[in-house]
Amino acid sequence: MLVLGIESSCDETGVALYCSERGLIGNALHTQMAMHAEYGGVVPELASRDHIRRLVPLTQACLKEAGASYTDIDAIAYTQGPGLGGALLTGASYANALAFALDKPVLPLHHLEGHLLSPLLADDKPEFPFVALLVSGGHTQFMAVRGVGDYHLLGETVDDAAGEAFDKTAKLLGLPYPGGAKLSELAELGQADAFHFPRPMLHSGDLQMSFSGLKTAVLTAVEKTRGRLGLDDTQALPDPIRNDICRAFQDAVCEVLVSKSKQALLQTGYRTLVVAGGVGANRQLRRQLQQISIRTAPNAPAEPVKTYFPPLPLCTDNGAMMAFAGAMRLQHQVQHGQKAAGFNVKPRWPLRELLQAA
Ligand code: KG4
Ligand code: ZN
Repeated sequence: MLVLGIESSCDETGVALYCSERGLIGNALHTQMAMHAEYGGVVPELASRDHIRRLVPLTQACLKEAGASYTDIDAIAYTQGPGLGGALLTGASYANALAFALDKPVLPLHHLEGHLLSPLLADDKPEFPFVALLVSGGHTQFMAVRGVGDYHLLGETVDDAAGEAFDKTAKLLGLPYPGGAKLSELAELGQADAFHFPRPMLHSGDLQMSFSGLKTAVLTAVEKTRGRLGLDDTQALPDPIRNDICRAFQDAVCEVLVSKSKQALLQTGYRTLVVAGGVGANRQLRRQLQQISIRTAPNAPAEPVKTYFPPLPLCTDNGAMMAFAGAMRLQHQVQHGQKAAGFNVKPRWPLRELLQAA
């Protein structure tokens, strides 16, 4: 079975082909980062227009890479939401038009399910059940995953997502868009403990998180430091100090995510952790999550945890995860392909609508 996956929810156009026998055989991606950089953030109208320009050539490149033709495609999976309305519409209309022309079924999918299942695309893949930590620009949540389509929400951020906190903090530090990845690069150069930021909701006793206060703490530290150094408005913070601030910010986010991951594993009894979403590309978080072990009681022996990540290029948005999620849904008979007809998109589509009752 060959599934074409289409992703166009934000600023990446992704098209991929997943074959149930041979795995991922075609994967084409265009990132609009350079185009939006000029504006300091994603401009929705420009994003939609660019998706329209890219979808057909990317599909052709993907088919060429796979050595396949349009008629080999068995089903077309696409991101129905959440995301930017106009951007989603480009992928949805293309997927439906192509499916109509080929007389093949379509599968409208939830973007986060793509992220959630993407670690299964790695050579070393997790087995069900597992705890999933979904950390992207729009979401930060823990889920108990018992199988394809069998997801239970354990806890989530009450305000900003971790990626959003990275991006907003990067912006206030004057880093160029897209800031999150840049901030994490600079954090690698910074010294630990030069600054200290709060660990929001670390001891809340549940799996809720909060990241919106962190950027305010960073802003206060920046202003205090500028005052201490006697810098005027035209002078930037010295690079080593800025890097130390990045490091302290990253340490705070990582400590919360690591501590809550342990708690989620204890709560579920699972010993497998799967991390997905853009922030899963963060090197420090990857290092720390790869080393965790947990104790069920203070004197109990430390139990190892196996942590899985998607391959690095598949952490951020891509078509491969949507093709794969579509193939999994068909294979496990969680969803049947539908005839291409009228379609809609769901810019706001809470994942809870896809979740099972606990
Ligand atoms: O999953 P994704 O591509 O898009 C969403 O569905 O949101 O995630 C994008 C987010 C952005 O907030 C970006 O700043 C963050 O992932 N991100 C990172 C890193 N690379 C991307 N955050 C921290 N460290 C990174 N290395
Ligand atoms: Zn995403």
